[in-house]
Amino acid sequence: MNIAANPTTDANQTIFLKDYQKPAYLVDSVELDIQVYADHSQVNSVLKMQRQAPGDLILLGRDLELRSIRVNGQLLGEADYRLDTEQLVILAAPDQALVEIEVLIHPESNTMLEGLYQAGGDLFVTQNEPEGFRKITFYPDRPDVLSTFTTRVEADKKYPVLLANGNLIEKGDVGEQRHYAIWQDPTKKPSYLFACVIGDLDVLRDQYTTSEGREVALEIYAISKDIPKCHIAMQALKHSMRWDEEHYGRPYDLDNYMIVAVSQFNMGAMENKGLNIFNTSCVLADEEFTTDAAIMRVQSVIAHEYFHNWTGNRITCRDWFQLCLKEGLTVFRDQSFSEDLQSAAVQRIDDVAVLKAHQFPEDAGPLSHPPRPDHFIEINNFYTATVYEKGAEINRMMATLLGKEKFRLGTDEYFRRHDGQAVTVEDWIAALTAGSGVDLSAFLLWYNQPGTPKLHVQGQYDAAAQSYRLSFKQSLKANAKYPDLKALPIPVALAMFDAQTGEQLTLNCDALVENQVKDAVYLFDQDQVTIEFYGVKQQPVLSLLRNFSAPVNLEFDYSDTELAQLLQFESNGFNQWQATQTLLERILLDDHPAQIYLDAIKTTLPAIVERDPLLASRLFDVPSESYLASRIDHDYQPEVVREKREQLLQALAQTLAGWAKSCYVSLDPAAQTDFSQAMGVRALKNIMLSLLARQGDADVFTMAHQQYISTGNMTERLGALRILHWYNAPQAEAALQDFYQRYKDEALSLDQWFSLQAAHPQVTAEKIAYLTSHPDYDLGTPNRFRAVIGGLNANPVNAWSFGVANIVELSVYLDEKNPIVGSRILQLLSRWYTLAEPKRSEVQQVLVQLQSQFKSKNMIETINSMLQV
Ligand code: TRP
Ligand code: ZN
Repeated sequence: MNIAANPTTDANQTIFLKDYQKPAYLVDSVELDIQVYADHSQVNSVLKMQRQAPGDLILLGRDLELRSIRVNGQLLGEADYRLDTEQLVILAAPDQALVEIEVLIHPESNTMLEGLYQAGGDLFVTQNEPEGFRKITFYPDRPDVLSTFTTRVEADKKYPVLLANGNLIEKGDVGEQRHYAIWQDPTKKPSYLFACVIGDLDVLRDQYTTSEGREVALEIYAISKDIPKCHIAMQALKHSMRWDEEHYGRPYDLDNYMIVAVSQFNMGAMENKGLNIFNTSCVLADEEFTTDAAIMRVQSVIAHEYFHNWTGNRITCRDWFQLCLKEGLTVFRDQSFSEDLQSAAVQRIDDVAVLKAHQFPEDAGPLSHPPRPDHFIEINNFYTATVYEKGAEINRMMATLLGKEKFRLGTDEYFRRHDGQAVTVEDWIAALTAGSGVDLSAFLLWYNQPGTPKLHVQGQYDAAAQSYRLSFKQSLKANAKYPDLKALPIPVALAMFDAQTGEQLTLNCDALVENQVKDAVYLFDQDQVTIEFYGVKQQPVLSLLRNFSAPVNLEFDYSDTELAQLLQFESNGFNQWQATQTLLERILLDDHPAQIYLDAIKTTLPAIVERDPLLASRLFDVPSESYLASRIDHDYQPEVVREKREQLLQALAQTLAGWAKSCYVSLDPAAQTDFSQAMGVRALKNIMLSLLARQGDADVFTMAHQQYISTGNMTERLGALRILHWYNAPQAEAALQDFYQRYKDEALSLDQWFSLQAAHPQVTAEKIAYLTSHPDYDLGTPNRFRAVIGGLNANPVNAWSFGVANIVELSVYLDEKNPIVGSRILQLLSRWYTLAEPKRSEVQQVLVQLQSQFKSKNMIETINSMLQV
């Protein structure tokens, strides 16, 4: 037997970037025939292959039942190939090989939601990034093999919709019961972008004319009752198409663009060529059923997947180490799009909040890795905040440094050079450099080094010389896996304000990228340096790292008073927010007195509420307990953090007591003409309710209940329900019941019902058990179990006590059923080592036990890393 006679490929081996080799064979064209039956599917493929380098003809495949294989018409016997659990090697293959393969697969029992899988009763879909295609058929399943795909899909007529990438070229019946469709994708693509969909879905249609005059048919597929919830996504799609033409000169290239909404999906969405597949949570948007935050997310994910058509699909990655090439750039692009959509400052606040809450802690702990790692075991474990969010920040830094015009010249050059290719991060930097005329090669370091740099800055005013000196120093934390760390190029956007009048000053300093301006950027790229500003008439108030111009931890010795002044003076909304957050961290983590903060909020915010409700809603942010925890590296006691935060919120509620009520009453979302501002008003109303509830206002539950019943808007209804439930109002139980009755058939709304209860600050183990044994709880639907585990995790006090058992139990279940998601759930425990004893050792013991129990390489790699501290 082949399998026994040959050493099998080790699925758990570490893959290194330095070992990259070109594939020995390329695929000119692929024909696929996918026949779906109730208890199996049959996949026949014809690959026209051609040698391009020395080496074996290797086809990757996992969990496939091989029926037959032919090369140039000859049926192969077992002696002609080598097959193991990972791959099929055709021995002595000719240089030109027409490879025909028949396999059987089982999408109906595929719980990993990877490859072809049944997503509920009436739907089959694919998810092939990064390595799912090898679960559909044997194939050189790697991103540097590009080919044209022709796909025949055949299924029972109870599935009227048969889709694949590209253009529909034929359809017809197969007997009475079955039918087929043939699709042809004219663009060469890697296998991870292949998709097909078989199901009973309805469709929303629209169309779009590109800047080149191409008529594009737009289609969003969903179950019938969800079609009315697809309009916002459709608008966002058209908007994205126009935006990419205007900002990057990139028109769409096919005659159709399809999006399919799926409720069982591992992540947010997938950019398959011309046939995006979306988690319902990232495409369905409707004020009645989904929140404002979800609506904003839908628009940014629609844009993200659309933008991948150029950054990801037409120009793809050479290998998976380059993942941040497509993800970092596409996230930067979708963030820029969203900045144009709502307020740029608020979008930046929200994006930086995510970066700081997820990426900074990831980079400070055992799972830290560079945006472009140099080794991995399971690539699915590297779809991380570091690859996506820090990757986006690297592109933003280069864009900030270049300015709009030069950055555009750089991206133009990238598209000109590499359209149709599978490339590397080096290629990207080289094209940006050539196009812009500015040497950006030092930014490669950001891709290759892990860790969040510390940026220490010191200021000194010299009244006699009327000069202000600013000293910069950067330090990087040593990392055993990446020992050779070099100084990074850090663009520091900065401004100075007159301490009395708050007026923004013109800067005189030769070291700036542009001198004699008010909004300046200094490129700090050494270990340490001092620069000097001239003609400074008196001690100024400095504002550093405006708009968060670099993903670093800034240490600057602001006084609390200066931070309060920045809240007042700064014209950059992001830095107003940053000033409040820095003040709050000092109060909550370093025991600074709260009074300056409370006074500043009380004097400054009411006016901002009038002027810009959306920004004002963010300026009320108080760092979450989880965020605060991420700033504590030793002896973390969740109860202590909660207690301090509660005290501060209590003081804030008292400070704003009288005003909060009148503010609540005066705010009217319906009076807003603009969606963003209406969103701000709704957020503010909910904030006011929680301030009033804390303060024990006698009418607050009546007001919240009134808001709950009188609104048709999910943000308002859910906000009110949260107050009622979390503060144990007399109306809470009935309102929860009512919410369930209204939305029991609306999966995304029901997710909120689960999440809100799991996130109750005093939730009990019994309540969690009630939720996880509820008839609507579903371990096959990531959205549903994530609603519960994510809600629970919102309160570290609960998550680190009885919650550990919930996280562990779910991880063990998912190790077998869905390790891609399981690995992410397990990571909720990755900061165990920061806990104070005895909890630290308790959790450690639990993890060590899991280490010997896990079977999937996803979970094994993750737990091994988590324990290496
Ligand atoms: N490429 C997708 C995106 O960022 C993300 C992705 C990777 C994905 N693997 C996935 C989505 C698995 C769903 C399932 O747009
Ligand atoms: Zn992406």
